[in-house]
Amino acid sequence: MTAAARMHTAPPVQASRLSVMNFLNEVGADFPQAISFASGRPTAEFFRLDDWLAAIPRYTDYFARQLGVQTRDASALLAQYGRTAGIINELVAAQLARDEGLQCAPDQVLITAGCQEALALCLSALCTEPGDVVLARNPTYIGVTGVADLAGIELVPLTGGAGSDWSGSLRATVAALQAQGRRARALYLIPEFDNPTGSVMPAADRVEVLRFCAEQRIVILEDNPYGMFRFEGRRLPSLAAQDRCGTVIYLGTYSKTLCPAVRIGCAVLPGTLFGDAAAARALYANLSERKSFITVNTSQLNQALVGGVLLDQQLSLAELTRAPLQHYRRNRDVLVGELDRAFGDLRPQVHWNCPQGGFFLSLTLPFEFGQRDVLCCAESYQVIPMPMQFFALDGSCKNQIRLAFSNLTTDAIATGISRFARFVRERLRQPIATGTLS
Ligand SMILES: Cc1ncc(COP(=O)(O)O)c(C=O)c1O
Repeated sequence: MTAAARMHTAPPVQASRLSVMNFLNEVGADFPQAISFASGRPTAEFFRLDDWLAAIPRYTDYFARQLGVQTRDASALLAQYGRTAGIINELVAAQLARDEGLQCAPDQVLITAGCQEALALCLSALCTEPGDVVLARNPTYIGVTGVADLAGIELVPLTGGAGSDWSGSLRATVAALQAQGRRARALYLIPEFDNPTGSVMPAADRVEVLRFCAEQRIVILEDNPYGMFRFEGRRLPSLAAQDRCGTVIYLGTYSKTLCPAVRIGCAVLPGTLFGDAAAARALYANLSERKSFITVNTSQLNQALVGGVLLDQQLSLAELTRAPLQHYRRNRDVLVGELDRAFGDLRPQVHWNCPQGGFFLSLTLPFEFGQRDVLCCAESYQVIPMPMQFFALDGSCKNQIRLAFSNLTTDAIATGISRFARFVRERLRQPIATGTLS
């Protein structure tokens, strides 16, 4: 079935997020000539797979020394089932200390099959009672929305973010939940270069949110896939690095710094859970136990690859991410320049942010942009933008789109934006009520 045919049978956005993602994949497949701003993939230009595969023997030697066995025996052990919590925990802890300023012991690190598994484990371990919910910004990353949907856990949207009253919104939402006899068990955040908005959580808000969540015993799930890709400005300390009360579980991934195929991520638990060391250890054990029945253990061959790269790189990814960082910065610059050129005269009706890092920019239009408009753009203008409402928890954000600039050439960005500008100008000349999904 084509994307167009599916659109007439698919349920509305909120009714099925999976159908929305399928729709987008199909649009891409149906219109291969269209320039897609939909996918936030890392660029493949800097994947050094041969070098990274060649790093596996380095880790095998290291592993052999750790265990006090012959290299041959270490190889055999790598190919076996392994420890559920992972085998490269101390290397990951050292890299997080170097690159993120996050101090943790190896036994606080749980190695997972990508950040996605860490999210699934944390949500299900934290929300065990019927009234337990997770708070999230609105819009938010579709990966956490999907996990919550599958586990039957409610995600409650916060209206908050750059320029708005974070702590006021948090307080009001938590109080309203309490009045209904429900508990906010966790708050999911992407403080650095948020997906989908591209925004950064200001330093003062970080301190305030940490304080409030510690007081209310709400676990913060801090997801940080894009932190290594800051283009400019002062780096802000992560919430986990500032956590003194045992409030934050840090979620990491090597999907963007190395490549998604490694499927290696981690959850870093605090040393205590709100001051209780035994509770933190029990949560770690609970997560490991759940993991043992889902993925048994994270592929040891892939851990060996990541471990070998970390050893080769002296436990820092700063050098390895230098070239991709430049690529993403240049793409951001080109995108912002093209938007200025294409829409400068339409400001402030059309406006956008200038992300200081990461892969995404958000743009606001003077009309709604939904599924039909994606199809129209793909079919008639050969460009695919991503409606922001696909990431909204409550059907809002109808006038916004997300533009992913990570995996395009600068020429494609320029051509794609000029095509999209034609669509916008024609729509403004001939407004038609096709933007909404009914
Ligand atoms: C916010 C966020 N978290 C996590 C991930 C990566 O997850 P994984 O490590 O499972 O590839 C992404 C990738 O798109 C993301 O945008």
